[in-house]
Amino acid sequence: MCGITSFVGRKKNLNEVVHNLKKLEYRGYDSAGVAWIENGAIKTIKSIGEIKNLETKITQKIMSNCIISHTRWATHGKISEINTHPHVSKNGTWAVVHNGIIENHKALKAQFELNVLSETDTAVISELLEKQKASSIFDFKDAVSLLNGSYALVCICEQNPDRLFFAKNKSPLYVATNEFGEFMIASDPVCFVGFSNKFISLNDGDYGFVELNNIEVFNFNNKMYNPIWKINDVLDIESNITSEKFFMQKEINEEEKILKNLVKSYKNKKILEIFDKDFLCNFKEIMFIGCGTAFHAGLYGAEILQSKLNVHAHAEMASEFIAKGGRFVSNETLCFFISQSGETADTLQALKLAKEKQAVVIGLTNIMHSTLAQKCDYVLPTLAGPEIAVASTKAFVCQMAILFLFAAYFQSNLKIDPFEQVLEISQKLRKYDLNYVENISNLIKNIKKCMFIGTEINSVIAKESALKLKEVSYINAVSYPSGELKHGYLALIDEGFPVIAIALNHQTNYRTINSAIEAETRGANILFITNEKMDFENSIYIDENDEFLASIICSKITQTIAFCVSQKLGINPDKPKNLAKSVTVE
Ligand code: M6R
Repeated sequence: MCGITSFVGRKKNLNEVVHNLKKLEYRGYDSAGVAWIENGAIKTIKSIGEIKNLETKITQKIMSNCIISHTRWATHGKISEINTHPHVSKNGTWAVVHNGIIENHKALKAQFELNVLSETDTAVISELLEKQKASSIFDFKDAVSLLNGSYALVCICEQNPDRLFFAKNKSPLYVATNEFGEFMIASDPVCFVGFSNKFISLNDGDYGFVELNNIEVFNFNNKMYNPIWKINDVLDIESNITSEKFFMQKEINEEEKILKNLVKSYKNKKILEIFDKDFLCNFKEIMFIGCGTAFHAGLYGAEILQSKLNVHAHAEMASEFIAKGGRFVSNETLCFFISQSGETADTLQALKLAKEKQAVVIGLTNIMHSTLAQKCDYVLPTLAGPEIAVASTKAFVCQMAILFLFAAYFQSNLKIDPFEQVLEISQKLRKYDLNYVENISNLIKNIKKCMFIGTEINSVIAKESALKLKEVSYINAVSYPSGELKHGYLALIDEGFPVIAIALNHQTNYRTINSAIEAETRGANILFITNEKMDFENSIYIDENDEFLASIICSKITQTIAFCVSQKLGINPDKPKNLAKSVTVE
């Protein structure tokens, strides 16, 4: 979604800041813009589409000591130059970049009679700052305190041409400094790579300014405080590109290695030992909460805890959890939040609600400096490394492996070492590469729609597989528990309808196989992914008897199928239309 990167210090070439904006491309955006101070005046250039369009508009070398830039993912107002950030006030006194949503923008517009040309909620901020004749940090704060909603704000002001003003509420914002006393403010620390490895995470309610050799940060009580600087260990996204053409392919290929490293870390660092062995006995219920793929990981977590530990566990989408007001959650509930980014707005909102209800909260996240990691009672690292493609692949595989280890940690009398089991799975993954999947499946040729079926844990993997295929191919991919087919969904089946049947549990595989055959009788073209040795024309055999471990292999297979289909359709799987990597608005 939207991204911010900005700079203040000695004079810098504008192109450098705009180039840095590319580190945020993976988040998804549909326009980009930059504003800077030049000879005491605010200037701006904006462009629809890719950042390279913005770069082509910068036709001469521009040097400035104060620069803000932004990638916009449209929420309020269509994709247009006028709606692109930075938003400059009518008389050019303030320019603003903003991530988040100002919920009371209409009320503010009416109350202060703001003449706002753009359709965005953000434009009211620059007009408000101008109308209030703000120039000092205290004027800035007064204006910001009128805003309701979520915001990561960075602003420049004509009267204070050497300063970046900032404020944060609910949307992530970070500040970095280097040995020259210069500062960058960005919505993701990945922007700081190459500038400095010293940064701070701002807290909700924080505001302040940075200028050469000086930073002033105030908390929501207007108390100035000395922030604690951390060391940035984020890898550089650009240098991370390898021989694969797409991040999605690269990230799927990395799964084997990442799982090996994950086992090493979880074993050697005894990560799960933050929990007492009887930890789960403290709770009447365990709820897994997340969005999209992370929600599917939650369904996996609930299935594995039910099945291996016989505890009450279920999963809820974060948005539904919020809508239902965190029904039945109490201090006897364990809420287990899963999020690759740790910044998904719905997940964070659900976390807030769970904490208000006094639930104990665990976070499983790939980003250890994220808001989720900071706000949970216990944090488990996903250890997937930077995931750039919008479609989550390697993070999902790691989430499953960690949940498998988590369940095993509380099991007594295990005969097999769970770390060894995951290691073995990582080795088995290698076989199912692009060539293997392409050769075995004639189903993915000319695919126009697809149905995934399975029972219990297999139906969870079916759900995730359908999501993946939808995201990167735009074809209508659906998923149903196998047993439901004859209660309605068979109506969808016609000649050649592709059905992928996931059957990885020896106890229940016959159900899925029977349902698939019923669909085949009605014309469906079936591909089985199974650990049953079967003699079907189209089938991918997985040599693993534990259904939860086999699910990890199956996920790599269906991720690869999704990738193959995207390639056949000529779609860039890294940046699917209308989607963003990190969904930071509710
Ligand atoms: O960063 P998160 O794991 O919280 O993201 C949650 C979802 O937005 C995310 O999984 C989304 O569904 C992916 N695009 C799935 O591939």
